[in-house]
Amino acid sequence: MPEQRIDTEDGNAYTYDELATYYKGTYKKKDVEAYWETLKVKKGKGKSKGKGEPEPKAKAKAKAKPKAKAAAKERTPAGAFKVCVCGGSGGIGQPLAMQMAMDPNVKELCIFDLNVAMVPPAGVAADLNHLEKKATVKGYVMKVGENPIDHLEECLTGCHLVLVPAGVPRKPGMSRDDLFKTNADIAKGIVAACAKFCPDAILALIVNPVNSIVPAMAELYKKKGLDPKKIVGVTTLDCVRANKFVAEITGKNPTFINVPVIGGHAGATIMPLFSQDKTAATILAEKIPDLDKHVQEAGTEVVNAKDGKGSATLSMAYAGSRLGRSILAGLTGRRRVECAYVMSDVMEDFQYFTSKVAFGKDGVMKVLPIGELNDYEKKRLEEAKAQLKGEIQTGLDYAAKNEL
Ligand code: NAD
Ligand code: LMR
Repeated sequence: MPEQRIDTEDGNAYTYDELATYYKGTYKKKDVEAYWETLKVKKGKGKSKGKGEPEPKAKAKAKAKPKAKAAAKERTPAGAFKVCVCGGSGGIGQPLAMQMAMDPNVKELCIFDLNVAMVPPAGVAADLNHLEKKATVKGYVMKVGENPIDHLEECLTGCHLVLVPAGVPRKPGMSRDDLFKTNADIAKGIVAACAKFCPDAILALIVNPVNSIVPAMAELYKKKGLDPKKIVGVTTLDCVRANKFVAEITGKNPTFINVPVIGGHAGATIMPLFSQDKTAATILAEKIPDLDKHVQEAGTEVVNAKDGKGSATLSMAYAGSRLGRSILAGLTGRRRVECAYVMSDVMEDFQYFTSKVAFGKDGVMKVLPIGELNDYEKKRLEEAKAQLKGEIQTGLDYAAKNEL
């Protein structure tokens, strides 16, 4: 039997040929070879695939082997999705909208923002409409103080994905929690409009504090009889940062580093699992606490460097579009795994938690378990849980007092 290695994307074991066939046409041969080098060799008899459950990707990989050419021809066609960026004229919104306009799965892109935004949404749309990409871009504006539900019928109807960076960012000295009241009300207005005009869309909430806003909005969705798993908290930037910082320390290519970051998106709740990435796992144990802190405090580092003029925007747009593209790829039937903060049962007593999530045809398909932790991570998990508990409660209390 040729050597098998564990694909970090789905935790299953494959031979090089199976992996190469599966990724043929998606990645260059040298990239697949480099990826293969990062994977752990499967030891012993190997693990069962999802405890007896069918594993679509594993089957696809195995089947693809003898049918490489046919499989390549049968590749899923690009999607024709409608996407909206709420707060699309803002610091994150503009570069995020640009990244989404460049995704071949996007046919229609809506930019929604207020009349007081730094650029009129129609201007952002006019600008993006000149990219030589298939997306048609349209701007929608609303006066401050008005209600999105009265203005967004055309904008939101037919949307598959709504990305929400609309809201106020931190200034130096503020915590993400300090933004809750203002941003929860902004999010509620937008989420209520989504509930009415695109209840099947996936709502990717970037607006802070993610740890409280996501439970608040998901519970409001549930109260309304809608699927709370359509509400997805965007924590991708924590993974992006962890990968970059590991690459800096090890001198390796960040493209092939994939550190899961679990828990939530604020301070100690940001919990990188360095032991679960082959490259990060080579870092000396004594360096891990500082590296861990660097990831936890990276947002504050940017807030301080911007000196009162906002928080992370460009790296957030990069990270948000990585998640957005994965969600759309999932909708076309290509399964994608990303960390995200969603309604979950992977952590006892926590209704909301960040872990790896498999995205597919219906959005969130499966919330994946957190996997094995080393002793340092087990201790950190207790710290993360202690903080997250209260932040989830803030969201639940808001949902109890409000309606969509
Ligand atoms: P920004 O001020 O530059 O942009 C926000 C935009 O939202 C503005 O254009 C504003 O007009 C718009 N807006 C406000 N209220 C609105 C409403 N009711 N309807 C539509 N649009 C509205 O801020 P930013 O830097 O883009 O940050 C936005 C949010 O993202 C903040 O809450 C910030 O904390 C958060 N953020 C989250 C992450 C993360 O990892 N999840 C990372 C960075 C920033
Ligand atoms: C980040 O992590 O950059 C964001 O959550 C913005 C912030 O306030 O730090």
